[in-house]
Amino acid sequence: MPSLVLGIESSCDEMAAAVLQDGKTVLASRVQSQLAVHQPYGGVVPELASRDHVRSVSQVVRAALDEAQVSERALDAVAVTVGPGLLGSLLVGLSFAKALAYRLGIPVIGVNHLAGHLAAAELAAPELVRPYLGLVVSGGHTALYRVGDGAAPKLLGETSDDAVGEAFDKVAKLLGLAFPGGPALAQLAESGREDAFALPRPRLFEPGYAFSYSGLKTAVARLVREHEPLDAATRRDLAASFQAAATDVLVAKARRAIADEGVARLAVVGGVAANQRLRERIAAASRADGFAAYFPPPELCTDNAAMVAAAGARALAAGERHDLDLTAFSRLALAAARA
Ligand code: KG4
Ligand code: ZN
Repeated sequence: MPSLVLGIESSCDEMAAAVLQDGKTVLASRVQSQLAVHQPYGGVVPELASRDHVRSVSQVVRAALDEAQVSERALDAVAVTVGPGLLGSLLVGLSFAKALAYRLGIPVIGVNHLAGHLAAAELAAPELVRPYLGLVVSGGHTALYRVGDGAAPKLLGETSDDAVGEAFDKVAKLLGLAFPGGPALAQLAESGREDAFALPRPRLFEPGYAFSYSGLKTAVARLVREHEPLDAATRRDLAASFQAAATDVLVAKARRAIADEGVARLAVVGGVAANQRLRERIAAASRADGFAAYFPPPELCTDNAAMVAAAGARALAAGERHDLDLTAFSRLALAAARA
């Protein structure tokens, strides 16, 4: 295991850098949010994200090294997210990581962002042993993996359209909440009635582990139009009914995968893993079905570089090596590569 790994993560609208010791101790983890840059537009604007990353990357890396009290000469490797994500954003972190590794004469290792999210669960809970199932739920991803002994997690299923966090954000916008509205929607839902509106549970009864969220969002949009102008009680009920539908599907598919795969451990990672209803329902399922559920703390759930350093350290320890011709891939390129 390389003793000091610098992690860099810039796949979307956060620039993050972290220093990890021995694959398990986070010496520093810095995350610079671009919320203020994108909020006026109600969503992430890719070109603005890349430009802000170019501005901030060296400062964020420097701050992480300073906080860790590690000189760059002491680093053993640089781990960096190579995709999936916004290409322009990824290229900033990747180019910086390669230049730094080149200058220091140390290896650079490319990390899949999803493998990074899963590594966060292992970093937070050393008792989480493989194999386990990983549910990655964020603004960009909704996917279920089997994490075994092999280097790459095995994809069991993913969303065919919107990600669950994206659906939370879009429905929040329909209800007049500011971007990113997921947490605000969850708060509004607390005082609403889950059964006030009958919303679809997309793909619930389909075999396999595919998810879909655009139809659910459209169903809410239709209800919003029908009930306009929305009174406070209707807003709360819509929020609660949507949240219930969105999270029920995740719980049901995770339970099914646990049974089918015969694996009694589930890690839930990504920004939506902070959702209280999802946590409660997974916890209840874990008691009923007899599996262990793991939720990393919020700072490891949302995008960060400690998870990238952890995944990179593990890959290096397993003998994986990447050259300086390492490149980035967006979601589309990933889909093409799979086909
Ligand atoms: O992992 P993350 O920080 O970034 C991505 O990789 O996307 O996830 C952010 C997403 C946003 O869509 C946000 O609305 C959602 O996670 N989110 C929540 C909650 N907290 C964050 N969604 C539902 N309930 C929450 N409590
Ligand atoms: Zn992410």
